Amino acid sequence: MYLHFLAINKRFMKLAVGALCLLSAPAVLSQSLQDGVYTEAQAERGAEEYSARCASCHSADLRGNSNSPSLIGLSFMFIWEGRSLGELYEKMSTEMPTEDPGSLSQQSYAAILAFILQSNEFPVGNHELPSTADALNSIQISSQ
Ligand code: HEC
Repeated sequence: MYLHFLAINKRFMKLAVGALCLLSAPAVLSQSLQDGVYTEAQAERGAEEYSARCASCHSADLRGNSNSPSLIGLSFMFIWEGRSLGELYEKMSTEMPTEDPGSLSQQSYAAILAFILQSNEFPVGNHELPSTADALNSIQISSQ
């Protein structure tokens, strides 16, 4: 009787450990920009879209001007460090360009985001950035 109880108890433990692993999975899946989260080709497509739709305000070198903020360097990281890529994507894809918000395709916004990451010298990887805020929420913006 006691042995039987032990066997059941062991099986329960295995289930419990399995469930715990599943619960902690999102934390394990969270990625850093240092992992290389976009591709070279994607950033190249983004560069074209950027010069057509964003450069008029944020300038060709992404440094902005007196009316539009910089999308590169320390001032940019000061605002975005510690937030998620999903939040940045949401901001771009729902509010930019200011004269016609949300007018590009989701793929184009993702490509422009890849171009912005490349311009900020984050490493290239083997997989394209996804084009939904949900999928991008697990990627944290951090400079190291
Ligand atoms: C007509 C000018 C204009 C165009 C075109 C434009 N922007 Fe902006 N953008 C602004 C202004 C002004 C702000 C600051 C106000 C705000 O945050 O809403 C801004 C803010 C931003 C921010 C937030 C920056 C920060 O650090 O707070 C991002 C990211 C951005 N723009 C990306 C883009 C992208 C990508 C495009 C092209 C699809 C684009 N913008 C096109 C004027 C423009």
